[in-house]
Order: sequence, then C-alpha cells, then structure tokens
Amino acid sequence: MTLLPLLIPFLLSSLLLSTEAAGGRWQLLQNSIGIVAMHMQLLHNDRVVIFDRTDFGFSNLSLPFDKCRRNPNEQVVKVDCTAHSIEYDVPSNTFRPLFVQTDVWCSSGSVIPDGSLVQTGGFNDGERAVRVFTPCPTCDWQEQNNYALAARRWYATNHILPDGRQIIVGGRRAFTYEFYPKTSAAKNAYSLPFLVQTNDPGTENNLYPFVFLNVDGNLFIFANNRAILLDYTKNRVVKTFPQIPGGDPRCYPSTGSAVLLPLRNLREASIEAEVLICGGAPKGSFKQASQSNKFLGALNTCARIKITDPDPQWFPENMPGGRVMSDMLILPNGNVLIINGAAMGTAGWELGRNPVLNPLIYKPNSPIGSRFVLQNPSDIPRVYHSTAALVRDGRVLVGGSNPHTYYNFTKVLFPTELRLEAYSPWYLEAEFSSVRPEILSPVSQTKVMHGGKLVVRFQVNAILAQSSVSVTMLAPPFNTHSFSMNQRLLVLDVIQVSNLGNLTYGVEVATPGSSVLAPPGFYLLFVVHQEIPSQGIWLQILSNTTL
Ligand SMILES: *[C@@H]1O[C@H](CO)[C@@H](O)[C@H](O)[C@H]1NC(C)=O
Ligand SMILES: *[C@@H]1O[C@H](CO)[C@@H](O)[C@H](O)[C@H]1NC(C)=O
Ligand SMILES: *[C@@H]1O[C@H](CO)[C@@H](O)[C@H](O)[C@H]1NC(C)=O
Repeated sequence: MTLLPLLIPFLLSSLLLSTEAAGGRWQLLQNSIGIVAMHMQLLHNDRVVIFDRTDFGFSNLSLPFDKCRRNPNEQVVKVDCTAHSIEYDVPSNTFRPLFVQTDVWCSSGSVIPDGSLVQTGGFNDGERAVRVFTPCPTCDWQEQNNYALAARRWYATNHILPDGRQIIVGGRRAFTYEFYPKTSAAKNAYSLPFLVQTNDPGTENNLYPFVFLNVDGNLFIFANNRAILLDYTKNRVVKTFPQIPGGDPRCYPSTGSAVLLPLRNLREASIEAEVLICGGAPKGSFKQASQSNKFLGALNTCARIKITDPDPQWFPENMPGGRVMSDMLILPNGNVLIINGAAMGTAGWELGRNPVLNPLIYKPNSPIGSRFVLQNPSDIPRVYHSTAALVRDGRVLVGGSNPHTYYNFTKVLFPTELRLEAYSPWYLEAEFSSVRPEILSPVSQTKVMHGGKLVVRFQVNAILAQSSVSVTMLAPPFNTHSFSMNQRLLVLDVIQVSNLGNLTYGVEVATPGSSVLAPPGFYLLFVVHQEIPSQGIWLQILSNTTL
C-alpha cells in the first residue's frame, strides 16, 4: 500500500520522459553569433561556414585586425567593419568572424572534392563572383575574380558533378546553367528553356530549383511544379516528368523543400532513385501576401516520385499541417527531418506568418499514413532566411531568420534572429545508449576509392541482431532558402558482419561503385543499429578522374 504513492509519480515521470525523448530536444548554443545564418555548410574539420549578406547594414560582430569593407557601390553602408560570415566550430561551440568582400546575398555553393567550399554568385558586386573557403583554423574567404561566372547567379542552385566540377542552374532572370571551374570546352552559359517555361510572370516560383544527380548520370531538375531529367553533357532534356499533383508551386518564393531519398542496393544493375518534395505555398500566395496583406495557408502536401521508373508517377501524401520555408534534412538513419518554416504566407520580406515550431520526422519506409511523426517544438521562430545543418554527432544546427531588409531587432513581427540552436533528434537520448554503436576504426579522414571494400569496426553494448546493422554515408549539403544542395545519403551494401568478441563487431561494406553514385569528396560515415546511429567519421572518396 505504501508503495503506491511512490510508484505512480515514477510511472508518470517515466512516461513523460519517453514522450519527450521520442520528440527530440532543443538546446541554445549561442545567444548571438553576430550574423544571420542565411547560408550554412559543414566542412570536414567539423566547422560550419555561415554567412548572410553584405548590404543590409552593420551586423553584431566586428571584423578583427581593423579590417573593413570599403565599397562605393554598396547600397547601405560604404564602409563596413562588421562581419557577414563566420566559421562555427562544432566541438568547442565557438566561432570566429570571416571577411567576405562581395555580396553573397541569396547565393549558392558546393563543397568540391578537396573539401573546400566554392561559393558562387549573389547580388550587386557579387552576382558573378566565385569565392573559395579552404578549411583550416585561420583560413578566410578568397575572392579572386568578380566576373568568374558567365551569367549573374542570384537564387541559383549548385550541384557537384562526377568529375568534380559543379553545375550552377538558373537564378533570377538567368534561364541558363553553367559549370565551374570553366574548361575551354565549357566556358559559357547554356540555355535551359525549362526555366523560362516554369517562370510565373511577376512571381517566378522557379528560383532555387531542386537539383539532384540521378543514378544514371543525368540531372533531375524540379522548378515551380514540374521536373525534367537533363543530360547536361549534351544540353538535352531526356525526360519530362508529370506535373506535381495539385499543380501548386514548390520553389522560391513558394518555397517548399525536397530530398533525394536514401540510395540503396547500390550494386544492383538498376538502382532506384526517389525524390520527395514537401510543402510550399499555393499559387497566388505571394501576390496575396505582398499586395493585399492576405496570408494563405501553406501547402500540407508532399509528393514522392521514383525518378528512375520508365513511367514515373507522383504519390501524394499529407503532412500533419501546412509548411512553407521548411528545411528537409536526411538524418544518418535515413529518416527525413522537416524543420523550420511557417504555416502561412510565403518566402520574401515580411511575408511569412504563423511560424511552425515543431519539426517532423518522415520515415520513408513506414506504411503510408504512419510516416510523419511530430517532434517537440523550439520556442524560436525560424522563418525566411533560416537554415539547418546536420553535424557529425547527429545533432542538427538551427540558425537564422531574417524576414526584413535590415538587422532589425525591434519593432518588427519577427526580429532578426542571431541565436544558434541545436536540435537533438530522439536517437540521441541516453535511453538508447545501450544499442548505440561506436565506431572504433577506420580513423576519421580515411581515404577510399570507388568500387572497393571497407571494414568498419564498432562496439555496441546490447546484443546485436546482425541484420539490424547498416552503414550510411552522407554528403553534407550547402543549405540556404530551405534547400540543401548536394544532400545525398547512400546506404552501403553490407557484405558481412562479424562478431570480434568483447562487444566488438566488424561490418564489411562495399564502397559506392562510381562517381555518379557518389561524386568524389568528403562524406560522413555512420554505423546504424536498430535506427540508432553512431557518431559519424569523415571519409574521403578519392577522385579517379582529373579535370
Ligand atoms: C546587437 O548589438 C547591439 C549593440 O551592441 C545590442 O544592443 C543588441 O542587443 C545586439 N542584438 C542582439 C540580438 O544580439
Ligand atoms: C530597420 O532598421 C533600419 C536600419 O537601421 C531602419 O532604417 C528601419 O526603420 C528599421 N525598421 C523598423 C521597422 O524598425
Ligand atoms: C576484452 O576487454 C577487456 C576489458 O577492456 C580486456 O581486458 C580484454 O583483454 C579484452 N579481451 C579481448 C579478447 O580483446
């Protein structure tokens, strides 16, 4: 009898704990990183390069060594001694200012095979610039040539190619694509009429197109409400996909998001590739918001398509609520995190309403109807110009939100947001530590070739069902405006799992067979056991092609 009062609170609290655990946790990392996290890229030294724009006034972070940007063509301030870019170090939770010299506003980029970030375009003096950031503790942006691009690239999308170049697709009033670095055979911009056809007059709805490298080497390009498969080597559209169900736009400013779902069975003759697109704003939403102050509900629909099918069809699904400007990130276990954004309005200055504070997890392999799981909310709205990026330990950095033209911290509906948070998905909870694998070898930064084998040794405390072990490899994306460029998760083929004793196991996997499946460069490798991922290690896939 006397036990009962003790027992009930215990049961209650453990129940609460497990619902909390199922929904992840939020942690404030920095009260101010001084700038708005409008663009983010994780590099292979576990540091994240973050930048906003140079033309909306002074940030809250000074440049070191009395550095200043002096630019007579600048719109707001001609002499600016504040930083608009930082490097954030994940393990130490510290950051340092970086000096970006031309306007990187609404630009794009990609990490290249040697691990440097090559970032392209922007606005004003930056619209044709290319900037390189090489990871090292004291490195800074290098900007050599402000006319490095063949066309202005503002709101464009980049993708790394199998030969290590990147392709830059579209941008505002840029109905073309081009490559970087330039070669004598490919130095121009190539016309892409699809970008004209998908350009809604006055609203566009085709900016920051969703671009994925398909397993057949062609590029899947989704803009507005439809997609093509492009053979970029011949400038030829090889397939036209049906319009997305409902026909509403999904690209900027009707900003939804998209992922290439995890690629698996990589040694089969025909590998399947599937794309998932979620959220956005209905047709006319931008006009209603900007001209009539009317904020339409965001789209609550997703659609999924097998892009490798001979007769590809969209399969619609419903999210628990509408979302615009959400980011979609692939987690190490192959689930998709849908995070940030708003339930009404569109992307653009002051045009979002009703921030969505709860992330969603989408489980691609669960039956339809049970794929979406609502997660615990943050209390910080992350609307226009917010970002999210997965880091090596499995957490997700969340930053930014600035829906106005200046750094306005007061007198606006959603103040400019300088706080940096981490969202820890449910799999990081201590209650899963007994099944969480820990990688013992190889060491981080190991180099591998395509078509080889790799043994990953790991330790795990719980008795292991060998069939519940998988090994995944993630290309860390460039994130801006709700799209993560180059995001790609490969589920490696397991050849065998061996029990090495002492709770230690070896899993032998096949490395991806080609640079089409996995363009050369740095990837995060995870061992996943019963949906619980290890911390990642960095793996570099070496290039067997030279430019
Ligand atoms: C930005 O800096 C100003 C001046 O130092 C300070 O008053 C303000 O609180 C800072 N804002 C944020 C959001 O950190
Ligand atoms: C935002 O900041 C700018 C620059 O400081 C200022 O001119 C503008 O009036 C501010 N807007 C609001 C709504 O306070
Ligand atoms: C197993 O682990 C224990 C404790 O770490 C160690 O003393 C022992 O030598 C290990 N045995 C083998 C076979 O590796």
